[in-house]
Amino acid sequence: MPYPERRLRRLRRTPALRRMVAEHRLHVDDLIAPLFVREGIDEPQPIESLPGAVQHTQDSLRAEVLELAELGIPAVILFGIPVHKDAQGSQAWHPRGVVQLALAALRAEVGDDMVLIADLCVDEYTDHGHCGIVAADGTVDNDATLELYARAAVAQAGAGADIVAPSGMMDGQVGAIRGALDGEGFDQTVIMAYAAKYASALYGPFRDAVDVQIVGGGDRRGYQQDPANAREAIEEVRADVAEGADLVMVKPGLAYLDIIAAARAEVDVPVAAYHVSGEYAMLKAAAERGWIDGDAVADEVLLSMKRAGADLILTYLAREVAQRLAQS
Ligand code: PBG
Repeated sequence: MPYPERRLRRLRRTPALRRMVAEHRLHVDDLIAPLFVREGIDEPQPIESLPGAVQHTQDSLRAEVLELAELGIPAVILFGIPVHKDAQGSQAWHPRGVVQLALAALRAEVGDDMVLIADLCVDEYTDHGHCGIVAADGTVDNDATLELYARAAVAQAGAGADIVAPSGMMDGQVGAIRGALDGEGFDQTVIMAYAAKYASALYGPFRDAVDVQIVGGGDRRGYQQDPANAREAIEEVRADVAEGADLVMVKPGLAYLDIIAAARAEVDVPVAAYHVSGEYAMLKAAAERGWIDGDAVADEVLLSMKRAGADLILTYLAREVAQRLAQS
């Protein structure tokens, strides 16, 4: 008798069978919600290119975080928009800087029920829009910038951040931040490193959200990674883990699934993927036109990042996905 033909469709016949054999699933515990808090406004401000997201006041931020906690989302990452920007981005470490105030207020409100993450960079705070100190020749000075990051890390940890997330792509930033935190007694503060962060055109709506324009129409190609390179990302991941990163992140997500998979294979710390603003905006724009089923595509895209090896996903979809998961 001939050996029976493999019938792969058998396990796809019913929803229960499919659920039983699913290799990956989205879970609310995997989601990190990015939130913006702006100084000097009385009402939350919509962000045109990031529909559904807003620049929060301190009050509306607190309300939002409480609702996200209620939905079971374990973590938020905060980005600040200050009133005053300067060459060094000093509001990034000022004790009364917008994110430091938000962290302290949220910590008092939610205790340890929510993980509070602070994006650690100076681009939202500098008047030139770069992620560090701009030298006379127009390049960003790596080592001088590390001192600013160290200050910001200590300020964020002091204000109550569980996790600081350096996103500036300076060499040695994780080591410098770890040293500064430990030196000030913050040895329990976690570092989530934006390890493989590409110079991507997909950050456009984010820069609207934080009111950042890079001086002279410049870009970040001198410090963020070239989208042509994959092996280099693994060097970045290895370096960050060696310097003390507790988690590593790949950013953007969907266009860099190969990098997520490679990072997952290389290291055993948790790997996060950032589904960035441009990815979110494309999805929302197509869904608004009725060209795609937005909810279904959202779930499929986020699932692809889990399948690639991401343990955690930072996404502006966090709230709506958590709501859908709660209903299903
Ligand atoms: C830097 C930072 C950026 C993003 C997160 N952190 C902008 C940049 O590197 O230019 C982008 C996030 C997104 O596009 O959703 N502080």
